[in-house]
Amino acid sequence: MSDFEEKVREALASPQNQGEIADADAVGTVGSPDCGDMLRMWLKFTEKDGKRVIDRASFQSFGCQTAIAVASMATELLKGKTAEEARELSANDLTGGLGPLPPMKIHCGQLVEGALKNALDQTPATPVVPVGPTLSDAMKKPAGKIRIVPLE
Ligand code: FES
Repeated sequence: MSDFEEKVREALASPQNQGEIADADAVGTVGSPDCGDMLRMWLKFTEKDGKRVIDRASFQSFGCQTAIAVASMATELLKGKTAEEARELSANDLTGGLGPLPPMKIHCGQLVEGALKNALDQTPATPVVPVGPTLSDAMKKPAGKIRIVPLE
């Protein structure tokens, strides 16, 4: 067994962040034209030190073991990243401790990258900015952009 296969096996022994995030801010889904596998990723953002960063990421996969192992690693390393930082990550960056993907497995990492990018495309670009003491005050003296979300 290669070093990569051994690391995948270890990651599969306790995959991280599997399942959906019920109150996610974004969900991305992709299917691989190469193998027919599918992967879905959920992202939940939070405000930290004045930046909007990924608080949690999770995934579900109808995919191969490599895709599951990469998704497990990726959802861990996405924590604390801004949408812009996350968008810059390549399939090989997302593998974390698994190391570089063997040529035959590159599309498995690209499945994870694709789900992430698809989710980021659906993430509102404008962060929710905390407003003043009242909404009325904020409207008189707008500080930044305000995202208005209609109530259910
Ligand atoms: Fe399809 Fe790995 S073989 S994603």
